[in-house]
Amino acid sequence: MVSPVDVIVVGAGSRGETYSCYASLHPERMRVVGVADPRDFAREKLQKQHRVADNNLFVDWRDIVEREKFADAVFICTPDRHHKDPAVALAKKGYHILLEKPMAVSAEDCAEIVRTCIQSGVMLTVCHVLRYDPVIRKIKVLLDSGVIGDVAHIQHLEPVGFFHFAHSFVRGNWRNEAESSFSLLAKSCHDIDLIHHWAGGRSCLKVSSFGSLSHFRKENKPTGAADRCLDCPVEKDCSYSARKIYLDRVKQGCVGWPVSVICPSSIPDIESVTEALKSGPYGRCVYQCDNDVCTNQVVNMEFEGGLTAAFSMVAFTKDICNRRTTIYGSKGELSYDGNEIRVFDFLTGKATKHMAETRAPEAFGLCGHGGADYHLVEAFISAVVSGDSSLILSGPEETLLSHKLVFEAERARLESKVVFCGPLSGPEGSMKRRIETIH
Ligand SMILES: NC(=O)c1ccc[n+]([C@@H]2O[C@H](COP(=O)([O-])OP(=O)(O)OC[C@H]3O[C@@H](n4cnc5c(N)ncnc54)[C@H](O)[C@@H]3O)[C@@H](O)[C@H]2O)c1
Repeated sequence: MVSPVDVIVVGAGSRGETYSCYASLHPERMRVVGVADPRDFAREKLQKQHRVADNNLFVDWRDIVEREKFADAVFICTPDRHHKDPAVALAKKGYHILLEKPMAVSAEDCAEIVRTCIQSGVMLTVCHVLRYDPVIRKIKVLLDSGVIGDVAHIQHLEPVGFFHFAHSFVRGNWRNEAESSFSLLAKSCHDIDLIHHWAGGRSCLKVSSFGSLSHFRKENKPTGAADRCLDCPVEKDCSYSARKIYLDRVKQGCVGWPVSVICPSSIPDIESVTEALKSGPYGRCVYQCDNDVCTNQVVNMEFEGGLTAAFSMVAFTKDICNRRTTIYGSKGELSYDGNEIRVFDFLTGKATKHMAETRAPEAFGLCGHGGADYHLVEAFISAVVSGDSSLILSGPEETLLSHKLVFEAERARLESKVVFCGPLSGPEGSMKRRIETIH
């Protein structure tokens, strides 16, 4: 019998806790044997859930580096700006690495992580969870089967969701680029990665991008509005009222996301949520925050062979992250609305529906992202057990290329120009050459 993979969780917040659920589901495959987090509440919560020994609890990932290697792998789920240093240091110690996206906040740091993992001989999985979503995988299988012929154009939308955007990108952890990263990287590196994946190994030649922060600005603060929603006389007329987003939810007994993340040192209930809204960042007026990241951004790309792609990220949507995609080919059109895939065949005039089964169990936190969170951890654990890195769908090289494309798109937006991505020709060799360039 194979012994379970021993994992240390670095960053026991929302994502760290989610991925750790895999150990509760499959104790024969994975054990959480260490936790690092400066927050006592988060660290101790995970310790209790997984019966972690006291001497394997750390307030900082650097304490793990000081110790002899005592596990097989680490899950790095720290904030965006704290990915590169632990990833590099822990790869050098010989730990296999599951790393939250974005890999890092600059192309150079991403490349350093990849280089270090390759040199240290450890496996790297970046949490581009959508790549593990069974429906998304089915799209790639259909494209590769040629059902829509030669792919000519990819149109992809990420509707972030109006209150989700307010929660994460106006009041929350990803609101300010200097503290986290720009929103195309923080939110849509998944989407650029998918487009890159669907382009099927063709390199992106040119990219342009436009976008800005609209609406959530001081000049749009309604007359008479207070700085905090709990004190605000016009809160009833505001779609982004913190009272509606958090307090009304907890009153109805809903304590999952986004309520679950606003009380950093306690279980959310009416009292702790009220306190968080009185004094914490999530009670602030959305027109009076220190946010600066784009609410809407478009990215246009041209790939080898003339394939074009158009991506939009929009804050102001009813849907929350329910991506919509249409891929146009010479023989037909494939569309995905977040639930099912439809393929329309130009020759027969018929539309065919395609579904995909997920094995992700609903009872645990791992059903997130359409079950993709579960499949991601499962793939990583299987790769570590077998030593077969081909089981990882979001490995170092390809992820580095798609991250690089995100940085290039953002440069195109900031400099108002078309960015030429590289001296490329030939479909197969191009990815390798670009990796060499990046290194
Ligand atoms: N893959 C996805 O779809 C997805 C979804 C959401 C967030 N994320 C990414 O996951 C990462 C974590 O996000 P989250 O929502 O869990 O945030 P979080 O704030 O809930 O968790 C981060 C944790 O890291 C801890 N931490 C900070 N410094 C540390 C250090 N030096 N050593 C150890 N721990 C430290 C914090 O105390 C916190 O508990 C972010 O990079 C985020 O962008 C990815």
